[in-house]
Amino acid sequence: MGIFSLLTGIPGQSGFGSASTAEQVTQGIDASNLTAIVTGGASGIGRETARVLALRKAHVVIAARNMDAANEARQLILEENEDARVDVLQLDLCSMKSIKAFVENFNALHLPLNILINNAGIMFCPHQLSEDGIEVQFATNHIGHFLLTNLLLDKMKSTAKETGIEGRIVNLSSIAHLYTYEDGIRFDMINDRDSYSDKKAYGQSKLANILHANELSRWLKAEGANITVNSVHPGLIMTNLMKHSLLLMRILHMFSYLLWKNIPQGAATTCYVALHPSLKGVTGRYFLDCNEMEPSAFAKDEKLAKKLWAFSQKLVDSCTKIEK
Ligand SMILES: NC(=O)c1ccc[n+]([C@@H]2O[C@H](COP(=O)([O-])OP(=O)(O)OC[C@H]3O[C@@H](n4cnc5c(N)ncnc54)[C@H](OP(=O)(O)O)[C@@H]3O)[C@@H](O)[C@H]2O)c1
Repeated sequence: MGIFSLLTGIPGQSGFGSASTAEQVTQGIDASNLTAIVTGGASGIGRETARVLALRKAHVVIAARNMDAANEARQLILEENEDARVDVLQLDLCSMKSIKAFVENFNALHLPLNILINNAGIMFCPHQLSEDGIEVQFATNHIGHFLLTNLLLDKMKSTAKETGIEGRIVNLSSIAHLYTYEDGIRFDMINDRDSYSDKKAYGQSKLANILHANELSRWLKAEGANITVNSVHPGLIMTNLMKHSLLLMRILHMFSYLLWKNIPQGAATTCYVALHPSLKGVTGRYFLDCNEMEPSAFAKDEKLAKKLWAFSQKLVDSCTKIEK
């Protein structure tokens, strides 16, 4: 899959390509025995992902920080499909307190959990610290999802064991993982304001999404848990994600509009990786345009993934201690 297939939409080995939509790649799939959480499911790619999973009859939980937008997304899904099973729950990935409350609220619904789509994200924002004192792109895009996934893992494992159905975790990364700081993840300067680059900090957080998926995939494989973990680049799609760089993105769009996708196409790779039967047992891989791709050398570095895991766990532990 290269520029040519992106421009032409010619399908790759999977039979799908850049022009495929989320509905097309899930055509004929019955997900009525599945429950899925979609973070950031109130807008953009996440909203389309939630809509299509619900269309395929999955029970969908939209995890969002903006409850008005989440309720509107739920309403739109129900207007299209009155039998859809959709719940909304509040989640602010920038706050460990909110993540824990989300998991408690989810557990109180007594639902199984088969699919976790770590989709929410922010991009290119000015330097800022999260509620827990962590640079906000790293906090939202990586640490929040790292903690959320860890807290939901027992539920996913027990669901997979009791039902015999493979669980799937999908991390929304980006091609931007290629453009990061010199060492990939700058562990010693994660919050440094003076050398902060809004672009590299985004790339760093998206690299972390792949490293997280790969390391978790190795753990789950070693444990024999019936859960796969993969990461995806959805393509270039004009969404609210661009709000901190609207002018730059509009100019980029003007010169490269043939490379951009619409939102239904943007949600295709996520839905493909979450639902498609051909990916049974496939784990620790990176997908673009519904086909497997090689990510960067940093993303494939096992030592870096282990270091990031230990670093993230320490960060979560230290923030959780302060909170107590
Ligand atoms: N669009 C692209 O071209 C592109 C390319 C590569 C990768 N991606 C990735 O795709 C994913 C979805 O992006 P998108 O394009 O659909 O952008 P989007 O429309 O802005 O959606 C992102 C969602 O994440 C939510 N979110 C942000 N911060 C959050 C927080 N602290 N807690 C909970 N939710 C939060 C947003 O909620 P609010 O409305 O409350 O902010 C929004 O619903 C992101 O991970 C992004 O990095 C997108």
